[in-house]
Amino acid sequence: MRTFPPGFLWGAATSGHQTEGNNVNSDYWQREYAVDSEIPEVSGDGCDSFHRYPEDIELLAGLGLTSYRFGIEWSRIEPERGHVSIAMRDHYRRMVECCLANGLTPMVTLNHFTVPRWMDALGGWHHKHAAELFARFTEIALPIVRDGVEWVCTINEPNIIACREGAADPSAEPVTYGMARPHLAVSKELVRAHRLAREVLGGGVRSGWTVATQAIHALPGCEQEAAEYSYPLEEFFLEAARGDDFVGVQAYTRTFVGRAGALPPPADAETTLTGWEYFPAALAIGVRNAWKVTGGVPVVVTENGIATADDARRIDYTREALTGLHETIAEGVDVRGYYHWSALDNYEWGRWSPTFGLIAVDRTSFERTVKPSAKWLGEVARANAL
Ligand code: BGC
Repeated sequence: MRTFPPGFLWGAATSGHQTEGNNVNSDYWQREYAVDSEIPEVSGDGCDSFHRYPEDIELLAGLGLTSYRFGIEWSRIEPERGHVSIAMRDHYRRMVECCLANGLTPMVTLNHFTVPRWMDALGGWHHKHAAELFARFTEIALPIVRDGVEWVCTINEPNIIACREGAADPSAEPVTYGMARPHLAVSKELVRAHRLAREVLGGGVRSGWTVATQAIHALPGCEQEAAEYSYPLEEFFLEAARGDDFVGVQAYTRTFVGRAGALPPPADAETTLTGWEYFPAALAIGVRNAWKVTGGVPVVVTENGIATADDARRIDYTREALTGLHETIAEGVDVRGYYHWSALDNYEWGRWSPTFGLIAVDRTSFERTVKPSAKWLGEVARANAL
């Protein structure tokens, strides 16, 4: 038996755009539906979690999980610059209250990749006052998190946002594999946004941001290249979390780096529906690195999971990842919780086929079907042990 610390949070995570459906005022929706869109599939009705969140929350609580991480959508709450939709803010407050009524600790993400169309039209994270605009939104959102919310993630995977902006930069170097180099000015603006948002949130909640970790592996003799690849992508964002209440670690796979940059998984590696290597040890690597680089900021695993149609493999993956996580705790890393990505089979940013969910969702009836992996994780949560 591997027992986890008392009060360890066991949860599942989702984001607004990937589950709610009809997030029509967001930049991503606009890109999905553009005539010349490069995005293969649209989000449409999503999982209709906008209306069905009580069912989602009840299912998670019934499984034995103790927490739910979900995102709020800036584009619904502030659909036009300076216009606050009180009704939409109330909607998200009801989600918080639904969690509390079901005995789940809510963890709220303020920004999970999407911004309102008006913000995008201003240049998004390139705008010189993007940080202030986000801080203003945080202020608007305060009533959602004021009572009963202990955990707030400001920005989800700022490093991936910066990479996306890096990819859009016409002067960017060609990418060997995977992500473009993070856009430096955007990276810095995101740090400013995070800091301002934390100030707005104040001491009443625990706030932090969540970093996509890559478990970077250098090919022999390429240690320097790997370090140069890794720093602007990962350590830069972990350093910015020093002094925060927690740092969110999100881990899925590893990345090999050779002379010319990142490399695809080895030909003989098992890969998942996203094409990533099956590599559950990535979680412990990401956690140790976050703990080291932040200088001992408490860690929450805010995302970890696998895109697979083979649910038994999801259990294997999660068991291995949690075994590694338990080792980090035994070594002395202060880990406060584990959130599986994802609660639902949801919209994987352009595609529906990579199924990450503990719960399947019928795309037309929206019927939810609990998978064996969800029951398995619920049992782990109930026992607080592997
Ligand atoms: C993101 C999620 C995404 C998941 C799997 C993370 O990058 O936060 O939105 O669905 O990983 O790709």
